[in-house]
Amino acid sequence: MTEASPSRSLPRCAAALLLGAVALAAGATDLPGTAHPRDWPALAPAIPPDPKVEAFVDALLRSMTLEEKIGQLIQADIASVTPDDLATYRLGSILAGGNAAPGGDVRVPAARWLDLTDAFFRASLANPPPAHRAIPILFGIDAVHGHARIPGATVFPHNVGLGAAHDPALIERVGRATAEEVAATGIDWTFAPTVAVVRDPRWGRSYESYSEDPALVAAYARAMVTGLQGRVGTPDFMSAGHTLASVKHFVGDGGTRDGRDQFDNRTDERTLREVHAAGYPAALGAGALIVMASYNGWQGTKLHANRSLLTGVLKERWSFPGFIVGDWNAQEEIPGCTKSDCVATLEAGLDMYMAPDSWKRLYANLLAAARAGRVAAPRVDDAVRRILRVKALAGLFDRPPPKERPETSDATRIGSAAHRAIAREAVRESLVLLKNNGHLLPLEAAQRILVAGSGADDIGMQCGGWTIDWQGDHNHNSDFPGGTSIYAGIRAAVEAAGGSVELSQDGSYHERPAAAIVVFGERPYAEFEGDRETLEFAAGDVRHLQLIKRLHTAGIPVVSVFLSGRPLWVNRELNASDAFVAAWLPGTEGGGIADLLFKARGAAPAADFRGRLAFSWPATAMPVTFAPDGSVRGAVFPRGYGLTLAASTTVAALPEDPHVPADRRARNTLFAAGHVTAPWSIYVADRSGEVRLTMQTQDSPERALRATLAGGAVRADWSGAAAGEFRIGGRAADDSRLAAEMALVLRYRVGERPTQPVSLGLRCEAPYGAPPPPGMTAVRAWRKCGVPAGATLDLTAQFKAAAPGRWLTLEVPFVCFTRNGADLSNVNAPLALETAGRFSVSIASARIARPAATESCPGEAR
Ligand code: BGC
Ligand code: BGC
Repeated sequence: MTEASPSRSLPRCAAALLLGAVALAAGATDLPGTAHPRDWPALAPAIPPDPKVEAFVDALLRSMTLEEKIGQLIQADIASVTPDDLATYRLGSILAGGNAAPGGDVRVPAARWLDLTDAFFRASLANPPPAHRAIPILFGIDAVHGHARIPGATVFPHNVGLGAAHDPALIERVGRATAEEVAATGIDWTFAPTVAVVRDPRWGRSYESYSEDPALVAAYARAMVTGLQGRVGTPDFMSAGHTLASVKHFVGDGGTRDGRDQFDNRTDERTLREVHAAGYPAALGAGALIVMASYNGWQGTKLHANRSLLTGVLKERWSFPGFIVGDWNAQEEIPGCTKSDCVATLEAGLDMYMAPDSWKRLYANLLAAARAGRVAAPRVDDAVRRILRVKALAGLFDRPPPKERPETSDATRIGSAAHRAIAREAVRESLVLLKNNGHLLPLEAAQRILVAGSGADDIGMQCGGWTIDWQGDHNHNSDFPGGTSIYAGIRAAVEAAGGSVELSQDGSYHERPAAAIVVFGERPYAEFEGDRETLEFAAGDVRHLQLIKRLHTAGIPVVSVFLSGRPLWVNRELNASDAFVAAWLPGTEGGGIADLLFKARGAAPAADFRGRLAFSWPATAMPVTFAPDGSVRGAVFPRGYGLTLAASTTVAALPEDPHVPADRRARNTLFAAGHVTAPWSIYVADRSGEVRLTMQTQDSPERALRATLAGGAVRADWSGAAAGEFRIGGRAADDSRLAAEMALVLRYRVGERPTQPVSLGLRCEAPYGAPPPPGMTAVRAWRKCGVPAGATLDLTAQFKAAAPGRWLTLEVPFVCFTRNGADLSNVNAPLALETAGRFSVSIASARIARPAATESCPGEAR
């Protein structure tokens, strides 16, 4: 196998040449984000080179055309590619993204998924090229907590809960069961496990992490890869019913600044190696053949462009024989790249592009680059060889099309009783008893029990994100055939013992209960939409706290069951409850909760709490901190904490001041104190697409504008090359703050006056599942908040009149938009500035506040 040598390919674009020159002058080690592979422990490959496989791959590679090779490097999303496309474009892989599904309907049954995977597989085998045998397609999906995109599948607890079980053997069984369900739909690859070691749970992906403890993550990485793929080095490996794993996101995703998704990780190299990378050697040792590169940066360089880590550490130092897949269009964040044109990531060591919607243009551009010698042929060959090797080692060349495989013959494997039993066991093992004053638990089952709270009878909330669709926030119990809500589990346990249950979300009751169980917590989210500014649970929303207090005042003992993707500051709720269970995101088997809450009269409890915290539980609303020796500061319950029923620990009243720092306090800000307020994001967009700002600076795809974080403000510079939009946006929510009586208040400074009209407005999103309004395509109409011309104001005069360099305040009452018919119920960007000319403006703060003068609208309504 020819490995690319570190000095082989010279950077090509001007910027890179410049960096190269600096590197030569200063010594390459001084470049930001350059790792030192020799400081990383060397690894031997878990799967030693097999001469037969290598000969097969080499022969295949020799007979492939350049077009076929480029095709292998690309993965397209089912929302943008059809089996027919494979006749022209011989792609290497297909994925089903978080919102993609057969026919675009995320609620179709498993059989439709099998139809789809079968069609793609057959298409890849049809009309083999004359020179060699056909190369089967590799189909991937995010089965990150069971095959959870499929209605009726077993949904296991998210990783944050599995971590609390501290049980690698259980994790291996979870992996095995997941693989069986994935394989039953003809899918050969799951984008799991995530081995992030989370150090700031404000990160929206914390629930995808097993622990803040690198050793536990490493043990679980090994177990999960083994469960998914089978035992490496034995005939079990990748035998029927197994699925390829991919370890993600390489590397440092759990250590970004302020826990912001995809931002920069600024730890030193030792911390990167010993903490954030801990899962990788273990996963590779278990035979992981695919690693997904991460969106985040390390010390200023995005991982997708970091040759020292992708090639130097992973491929060379660790002898990784498999391939590196990119993350969802992550190439577009690399300076000088767009999502459909980027050789920098390939040169850094990425082998397969995840190019969901951009695949066709990317294919054309890569092919042109390869033909023109703008990408080195040996690098292309190396990437293709790795992909073919993985396909060969996984047995793909010998697998029949999905519908002919024995493992797809029995659809009852999906959500089978055996798998659900494992999931229920995992739920039991993951529950952490934080408080049990006066030995309230276990409750006697033969009593009258009140079940209250918004999470009591909501399987969607139990499952969290990456369930049915990406965010998982529109699910109902009917989307989980065979699943059990927490309430249903309690009712079954209590009624079986002769007790009775009353369900009431708001806690009102017909008959006084002996005890109440209040189930509440976070609503589902995924990725950056789950980022938050502080760890204070439900700041400003005290419904559940009041409910618990009301019951308590009435003399009814309260057990709180808390659903969350991370530890959150809940001191007030803890104080108000007699017992408190951290239940994480348990998945479809809600019965596992009742298993630990009850006992029969006069009998000993059948099972006890075994879960122990895998994350430190914070004493304030700000995350705990880690000293270089790994010790933790700022926890109210340390990692490893967890009571048993027998424990006689009494948790005393906890301080009720969350200690939120001033710069995180303002709840109605979009941007302040130098950072965009989570979960909002800054986007730069032009007609070629939009990109999130996750580093110091980001260009829009066609460079119509650039956003830069500097001096506590964000500056937007329009180049005049094309129309561009600067936007602060996020997931559309029915947000009461965006009411007609409120206003957007901007503190801004013009740097360069506009040369063409500038508009300021709102952007909206289609309500979930809404049909397009008559006469308009859905996307356009909704984007404009239901007003044909858009909910915008012309602010050209304002900005032209502003003295450059002076800080000014602008107030835009939302009534200026509603007056023209704008609908504020699905706003996903409360601030969008657009122009086609040159213009430069800095924004120091953007807030939603009560306007001083409701009646006055700046600019002209358009
Ligand atoms: C996520 C990955 C995921 C991929 C495919 C990305 O946005 O970061 O974790 O596997 O999408 O859905
Ligand atoms: C997710 C995809 C998802 C998409 C939705 C990505 O970040 O990872 O899987 O479908 O966003 O736009």
